[in-house]
Amino acid sequence: MSVQYQAIGWNRQKRIYDSTLAAVILLYLALFAGLGAVVHPNATIETLLIRAFGTAALLLLHVILSIGPLCRLDRRFLPLLYNRRHLGVTMFTLALAHGVFAIVQFHALGDVNPLVSVFVGNTRYASLADFPFQSLGFFALLILFVMAATSHDFWLHNLSTPVWKRLHMLVYAAYAFLIAHVTLGALQSETSPILAIVLGGGRITIQKMHVAAALRERRIDEAPKTAGRDGFVEVCDASKIPENRAIVISLAGERVAVFRYGDRISAISNVCRHQGGPLGEGRIIDGCVTCPWHGYQYLPDSGCSPPPFTEKVPTYRTRVIDGKVLVHASPLPPGTPVEPAQIDQVARLRA
Ligand code: HEM
Ligand code: FES
Repeated sequence: MSVQYQAIGWNRQKRIYDSTLAAVILLYLALFAGLGAVVHPNATIETLLIRAFGTAALLLLHVILSIGPLCRLDRRFLPLLYNRRHLGVTMFTLALAHGVFAIVQFHALGDVNPLVSVFVGNTRYASLADFPFQSLGFFALLILFVMAATSHDFWLHNLSTPVWKRLHMLVYAAYAFLIAHVTLGALQSETSPILAIVLGGGRITIQKMHVAAALRERRIDEAPKTAGRDGFVEVCDASKIPENRAIVISLAGERVAVFRYGDRISAISNVCRHQGGPLGEGRIIDGCVTCPWHGYQYLPDSGCSPPPFTEKVPTYRTRVIDGKVLVHASPLPPGTPVEPAQIDQVARLRA
C-alpha cells in the first residue's frame, strides 16, 4: 500500500502476466506482418508494421475497456484487472510505435515539420471521404500518453483518487477518436470487410458489456432500504452472507459492504481508498478485508489498514436481531472502531 513508492513492486504473478502479454503481442505482430506480406505482396515492411502496431494497440484497448465490466459480471476475470495498468502502458507503447512510424513514413519527407504536417498536410477537414484522419489518431495518442505517464500510484496519490479517475475516464474519449481515426482513414480504402467487422463488433460488444454491468450495479442502488426510528436498516438474514464475504447495500446513496466472518458481522464503506475498488466484492483474508482490485487491506471492525499502512475507510454500526442483520444508516468517520455484531446475539438477548 502507500507507505513508500517503488518503481514497480515486481512479484511472480506480475512477471507471468507481463511475459505472457509480451509473448502474445510478439506473436500477433509476427503473424500480422507475415500473413500481410503473403496476402499483400506489394506492401512494404513499413506499411505492414504501421498496420500491425496500430491494430495491436486498438485490439488491446478493447481488452482494457472490457476488463472493468467483465469483472463486475464475473469474478473470474479479476486477475486481469490486477495488472490492468501494465496493459495500458503496453498499449500506449504499441500506439506510439504506430504513430511514430506513420509520421516518419507519411509526414517526414517534406519541408514542413512532421508534427505540423499531420494537421496541415491535408486540410480537407470538411470532407468525410478525405478527412485528415491522422489528426484524430494524434489526439488519441496524446490522451493515451497522459494516461500512461500518470499510471503510477505516485500520481494517484498526488492528484487524489477522484481527479486521477476522472483523468483516466478520458480513455473513452481516446476510444472515440480512434473509432473515427480508423473509420475515416483505413476503412475508406479497405476492400476487405474484416477491419469494419472487427471495429463495429468491438464497439457493440464493449457497449453491451458496459450496459449489463451498469444494470447490475443499479439493482444495488435501487433496492429500497428504509431506516427504523433508531437509524438502523434491516439488511438480510445473517445466513445469507457467505463466510468471509460481504453483501453490498446502498445506504443514503453510499455503498456499504456488510461482512460476515465466523459469527461476527461488520460493515465498512464499499469504496477502497486506492482507486475506489469494490471492497464488498473482496474477501476476508488473514483477518482483513482484501480489495479485489489490487489487494489493499482493511480491518473489518475499524476500517483501518493494518500497520504500517495508514488508509482508513468509514465504518458502520451493526446489530443482529432474530438472525437478521441491521446496519446503521449513518457512516462513522474513517477508521472508527466498531464492536462487530455477534450472530448468536439473539440467543443471548433471549436468555
Ligand atoms: C500521431 C498519431 C497517429 C498517426 C499519425 C496515425 C496514422 C495512421 C495512418 C497513416 C494510418 C493508415 C495506415 C495504412 O492504411 O496504411 C493509420 C491506420 C490505423 N491507425 Fe493510426 N495513427 C496515429 C495514432 C493511432 C493510435 C493512437 C492508434 C491506436 C491506439 C491507431 C490505430 C490505427 C489503426 C487500428 C489503423 C488501421 C490499420 C490498418 O490499416 O489495418 N492510430 N494510422
Ligand atoms: S482499488 Fe486498488 S486495491 Fe482497492
